[in-house]
Order: sequence, then C-alpha cells, then structure tokens
Amino acid sequence: MRLKHLLIFGALFAVSCAAPAGDEIDRKVEDLLAKMTLEEKIGQMNQVSGGYQFSGEIAKGNVGSILNIVDPVEINAVQRVAVEESRLGIPLLVSRDVIHGFRTIFPIPIGLAATFDPALVEQGARVAAVEATASGVRWTFSPMLDIARDPRWGRIAEGSGEDPYLDTQMGVAMVKGYQGEDFTDPTSMAACIKHFVGYGAAEGGRDYNTTMISERALRNTYFPAFKACVEAGALTLMTSFNDVDGLPSTGNEWLLRDILREEWGFDGMVVTDWNSSGEMVAHGFAEDLKHATELSINAGVDMDMMSFGYVQYVKALVDEGKIKAETIDNAVRNILKLKFRLGLFENPYVDESLARQVAYAPEHLAAAKQSAVESAILLQNNNDVLPLKSAKRILVTGPMADAPYDQLGTWAFDGEEAYTVTPLTALRKDYEVVYEPALAYSRDASTAGIPAAVAAARSVDAVVAFVGEEAILSGEAHSLSQINLQGAQSELIKALKATGKPIVVVVIAGRNLTIERDLENCDAMLYSFHPGTMGGEALADLITGRAVPSGKSPVTFLRDAGQAPFYYNHPMTGRPNSGTETLLNDIPLKAGQTSLGCTSYYLDTGYGPLFPFGYGLSYTKFEYANIAIDKAEYAEGDTIVVEYDLTNTGNYDATEVAQLYVRDLVGSVVRPVKELKRFERVELKAGETKHCRFELPVAELAFWNRDMEYVVEPGNFQLWVAGDSATGEPLAFAVK
Ligand code: NOJ
Repeated sequence: MRLKHLLIFGALFAVSCAAPAGDEIDRKVEDLLAKMTLEEKIGQMNQVSGGYQFSGEIAKGNVGSILNIVDPVEINAVQRVAVEESRLGIPLLVSRDVIHGFRTIFPIPIGLAATFDPALVEQGARVAAVEATASGVRWTFSPMLDIARDPRWGRIAEGSGEDPYLDTQMGVAMVKGYQGEDFTDPTSMAACIKHFVGYGAAEGGRDYNTTMISERALRNTYFPAFKACVEAGALTLMTSFNDVDGLPSTGNEWLLRDILREEWGFDGMVVTDWNSSGEMVAHGFAEDLKHATELSINAGVDMDMMSFGYVQYVKALVDEGKIKAETIDNAVRNILKLKFRLGLFENPYVDESLARQVAYAPEHLAAAKQSAVESAILLQNNNDVLPLKSAKRILVTGPMADAPYDQLGTWAFDGEEAYTVTPLTALRKDYEVVYEPALAYSRDASTAGIPAAVAAARSVDAVVAFVGEEAILSGEAHSLSQINLQGAQSELIKALKATGKPIVVVVIAGRNLTIERDLENCDAMLYSFHPGTMGGEALADLITGRAVPSGKSPVTFLRDAGQAPFYYNHPMTGRPNSGTETLLNDIPLKAGQTSLGCTSYYLDTGYGPLFPFGYGLSYTKFEYANIAIDKAEYAEGDTIVVEYDLTNTGNYDATEVAQLYVRDLVGSVVRPVKELKRFERVELKAGETKHCRFELPVAELAFWNRDMEYVVEPGNFQLWVAGDSATGEPLAFAVK
C-alpha cells in the first residue's frame, strides 16, 4: 500500500488552506520584491539580537528581524525606525523564545507532554501568544520537536520526550495555539518548529554533539512531528546545530529543500539557529564564514540568526556567481510572505499599555495551574500516604520548597518571580507548616542544615520534602553525566526517613532524574517537571487531595544514567530479555565465558527501567476490561476499532490516560517493540465504568520500509490498551 504520494498531496493541500489570501499576498510580495535593491534583500535575511547597536542599520534596511526585545515601548521605537525611516518601510518581525509561557509560565514542555492533554497544551500556547504579542513579539521559537531519549541531555526539558506520536500531538497543539485561527489577528504568533533535525540524538547526551541517524530512522522517528506541524501550517522552521551523519543541518540541502520543501510542501520561512551557519566553520564543514554563508543559503536557509555572514558576504557571493540572484529572491519571498501573513504591514505597532493588562490574567493563571496539576506524575504512593488528608501540622523542607525562580524552569526569560506561587506559600493555606529548608539550593552539599529538619520532623504529622534541580541545571548547554539528585538532597531524604514519619518527596526538576535510591527512602513521590508560575498551588491541590494526579511519563525513567539512551519503543533485538537476568553478584567466581542463553541487559541494573514510558499512578485504581477489536483481519482502507471498559475502582473521582500501543511482528526492517498510536484522558467518578473506544486507521500502521517506501506491510500485529507502555495483555490482528 503506497501512501507517500497521497500524503505529499495532503501536505500541500493543508498548507495552502492555512495561508490566508495566498494570491493577494503573493502579489504584494512580488510588487515589493521588484522595488528592492540587493542590499535591502540581504537586510531582510538578517536577524539580530537586541542589545546590538542596530538602529542605524534598521534605517538603512539592513535588519529584517530582531530577537530578544520584549518591552513594547522599545519594540515600537525600533519598529518606527523600520517603518518610517527605512526606504521601503518594511516592518521588523520581533521574536523571542516563548517556550512555555511568556509572563504566565506553564510547566516546561516535558511537563506539558506529561499531561497527555493536547487541548490544554493548545490553550497554554494561546495564553503565551496573547501575552507575548501584547508586547509586540509576533514570532516564537517554539515548539521544540526534538525526540530525546537521553536525560543527560539538558534540553530534554524543552521537548515532549521520547515518543514520535506524543511529540506530534503536542507539537501540533502548540502550533495551533500560538498561531490561532487567523494569522493577521494581532494575537497570532508565528510558531517555529525546531531544531531540524536530530538535535536530541546528541551522542552521550552532550549538547551540540554529533549524531548518527539513518535516513530510515529520521523518517520513522525524527521527521513525523515536523511533517505534521508543517501540515498544521507552522509558519517557520529552525535548523539545528548538530550534524547528522556528517552534514550540519544548516548546510543540508537534502533536508531543507528535498524533504522540507519538495516532499512536504513547506511554504514558510527557514531560520538558522543562533550562529549555526557560522558554526559550520568550527564543524570543519566550511572554510570560513563566507563559505558557511554560501553553503547555508544554497542549502535553503532564508534568514540568518546572529552569524552576520549574510550581511557581510552575500553581495560578494552573488557577484561571484556562487549564489544565484534567484536563490536570494526566493529566500526574501519567504520572509516577506511571513510578514504579510502576520499583517505586520497593516499593524506594525502595538498598544503599549496592553502588555501589562493581559499579563497574568486570572484565566491565564488558571490554565497554568491546571497544566501543572495535570503534569505531575505520581511515581509511588505506599500505603496511600497521599493525599495528606488527616495531617494537620507538616514539615515543609528541601531546596525547591520556596524557589520561585527555579520552579519556573529553563527558558522562562519573562516570567517574574514576584508572581510565582511556591509550594511553601500555597501549603501554608492548608496546614500548620513548619519550614526548615535544610539545603539552600539543589546543589548545596552541606549537611549542616539537615539535623534541624530532622528535629522538626519529629514534631509533625507528615513531612513533605521538595527536592530536584535548579532551573539552570537543565536546558541548553546544561547536560550532565550523572543525573542523581545533586548536593546533599538524597542524604536529607534518608535522614528524614529515619524519623519514621510519613515522608512525601516532591521532585521539581528539568529532566527524568535517577531517583531509585530516593524512592526507597520515602513513602510517596510526586514528580513535577518544573511546573511554572502556579506550581505551588497545583502541588498543594495534589498533596491535599483537592486534585488527583493524572500525569503520565513522556519518558522512560532510568535506574542509572549508564542505561541511557533508553526508550520503550526501541527496535527488537535478536536476544530480547525475557525477564530472567543473572545479575552481577549471581555470577560465580571464575565463571567460564558464556553468552548462550544471555539476553540484552546490564549485569548491574538489569534490563528494565525504573518506570516505563506512560507510567503514572493515581489516588484511585483503574481496571481495564473487555478489551476487544472489531475484526481479526483488516484490509488497507479499514479502520481498527478497539473497545474497552474502564472502571475507577477506588474512592476518588479521577482521570486515567488510556493508551493504545501496537507492534508489527515481522517487518522488512526490524520494527519497534511497541509504538504508541492513540491516547485518551478518560474522566471517571469513583466507582464509575465507561465503555470507551479507540479508532485507528490501518494506514497509520505505515512505516518507511526496507525500500524506503512509506507502506503498511501486511502481516500479524499485536495491540495493547493499558495505563502505561509496560502492562496489559496483547490482542492479535492481521493486515492482509
Ligand atoms: C539557541 C537555541 O538552540 C534555540 O533553541 C533558540 O531558539 C535560539 N538560541 C534563540 O535564542
């Protein structure tokens, strides 16, 4: 079954629908382009960061876009120079990393993914757009679609985790939320899908590192979210810093022209990452900045972020015939089209009083709080310690209990500490709180404050310890080789456990840390990826039981960093683990060399993860029953219908994220062990049963096969409906 051509046509159709009044815009672009000098065209291709001395350059038409200014007065001022003083009056496009909120900060993207709630994520992106555009920011560098399977990589914080399907749902939701229905609406903010491509596969999880990803793996794993966002009308795309198989993305014509433009029909604008054109010199891929400029423009990059190579060298490169005038015209067309699409020519300025009026609006804070509630993952709850219903007096301890800056997480430039509600502040409304931080910050290695916390623990009904990572320990350029809790945090938890009091640990972090040893020293653990402005209130609701956890992990939790990269949907090995492992201390002394009977696992950590992808507990229990598929055999045009009953067997009204996984048993290439294909948040009252269904078109079983064709290969499959990626019994079906 060949779906490739159908899908390409679909992409073109979707994109042309998303562009309002395309013909009229094209006409305006051509009229303007015809009036431009080569220098003015090059100016449009140049993006500079605020803080650089640029107002003279703007008046000369040498700047097309500015990043990193957010004050509406300043934005209007530079815009006035562009519109009123430059020869053609072309407005600037102002951009910013609005990654998980602008003023009202939402959970970091990995936390948003843990909600498995695309509608809520779309709402959050809309809030971000409303707040940012009120300042004059009409372009955000988000969503980050990089699949990340190694928590040592600091930027795992910024994406949706390890799974292409979840990544796609979250990415599309963000694009829709940022851009809204009508690009010319002043609250529409252009999305930028990034980093194209493979950046999250950095070897060893070390930021900016090389990657080795086959074309098939790109197509099956790394491309899908980008392609879906292109189909959803994403207006811009950013190239990545890394190379894939020796080719830095910013100079990779196959990626930017053959795949993005030709195959997917992208008609938006492509920007480099910060100096990623210039960095091709350090890669040893370009001789100098001039050569890098030539390579990146010819590869299909339209706008240069901060290498300054375009303004310096494009004219000479055109004169020397190394870049065609037509290539420059096409790049400038993409840039002007974006500016027309956003209505910037008609509405270049912003109402300077608006930004403060819309920031932190009550409905924005409510959406941020709901996102933080839904993103928290309950990893352990021995003896139903949580929620803390009967406790009156509690000890609040740990370095993240009252860390308003750090709970905002990475890339929260514009969120303000003063508006942040910390867990300490929130819990004081519910309990008599004794506060002993014990450690000043997450890396604090001094144990001097621990005895005071332990002494305080003896006088309370329960202990809640907020540990984790400061915001700066994850995000760009902040990779780690060890991902245990830093400083003396594990010692603190251990010391508290010795008091015999109920211990609740809340981890507030930017990545899935290795917390196995800490789990042993607490009764309950709630995991909250940096939860943002309203994190404190959200966590207090969960701790008291006003809200019930429903978050599921968008990544595999590792037992040890040495297991990375580790992800649930890995290709099957020839010696899969069957659950029997001989571990390090089971091996007799002087044991003979043997490999037969052994399987793919580590002698020290075994095979399994600490928690699988999709995992998360609730205060109630859910039971899946009567899972049935409508047929045993399907044809290519069919839709698989899966029905099941889901019962809330406990005492709390709650929401379960039901997940549908599939495995293609035999393929022309080795297939993943399991793949997430659908999920749904199902709300259930205590004791309620709902009859639910998933529908999955057989066409969605397609993959890039041995002949590099996108096909559904007939054969046998298995299917699971379960609450995570590691449980449930498979049902069999076939595609003929
Ligand atoms: C570098 C980062 O890689 C990218 O994600 C970001 O958007 C740009 N800097 C602009 O700040």
